[in-house]
Amino acid sequence: MILIDPKRIPRHVAIIMDGNGRWAKKRGLNRIKGHQKGADAVKEIVQTSNEIGVSWLTLYAFSEENWKRPKTEVKLLMNLLKKYLKRELKEMLDNGIRLQAIGRIEKLPAGTREILLDSIEKTASNNKMVLTLALSYGGKQEIVDAVKKIGKQIEKGEITSNDISEKTITRYLYDAGMPEPDLLIRTSGEYRISNFLLWQIAYTEIYITPILWPDFNRKEYLQAIEDYRKRERRFGGTLETDQYFDPGERMKKCI
Ligand code: FPP
Repeated sequence: MILIDPKRIPRHVAIIMDGNGRWAKKRGLNRIKGHQKGADAVKEIVQTSNEIGVSWLTLYAFSEENWKRPKTEVKLLMNLLKKYLKRELKEMLDNGIRLQAIGRIEKLPAGTREILLDSIEKTASNNKMVLTLALSYGGKQEIVDAVKKIGKQIEKGEITSNDISEKTITRYLYDAGMPEPDLLIRTSGEYRISNFLLWQIAYTEIYITPILWPDFNRKEYLQAIEDYRKRERRFGGTLETDQYFDPGERMKKCI
């Protein structure tokens, strides 16, 4: 049994879902089978996040670099995403999940983009949890896109370079209202950030597990949360100034 203190649930969890291909290879299956099983894992982690009170869940579903994969794999991934969104719309509506996307969405094939935008619109008034899919997403590209928008403001004479602060950059990210992740999980054991949320993870706690994404289930996820719970977050300060943890707080909830 894992004990979770509701006060120490990370507000925002971001996940690099890696290892679908290896999962399939280990079983002598086609890579797409790994992605299909990966979509089932997405469902379980979305449900669990919502249940335990995570307010923001951000999943790295397709990177800018993933366009370099074989055309057939890209096509299958886009179809899988379409199917997932169709299948899960009711679940999102029933459970107060608001869907949104970050990335260069305009590059997605029309069919996938339409379903995505439709699901975003239909779930727009939900307010229990925000599920953000990073699609055609790159952290460097996000910063470049933000800088271009700031450049335009300067060209128009609305601001000068002296006005640029961290807040200015944050305001022009794909989702300016998204809080920075508290916990970043990466599956399949690689120690890399892979161009994910580069600006936003400055103080994020990182958890890396060797488990391949299709095998990442509720139990593994709660273990990651439990590991996070034990950490001391100081944000560059000292423990005394840390508002995040109250070490005397007793565990309140059994999951
Ligand atoms: C990485 O595994 C995974 C991806 C590039 C895509 C993630 C997609 C899913 C989890 C399934 C569909 C998503 C949603 C939101 C329904 P990899 O192929 O790089 O694995 P490997 O490193 O073992 O080859």
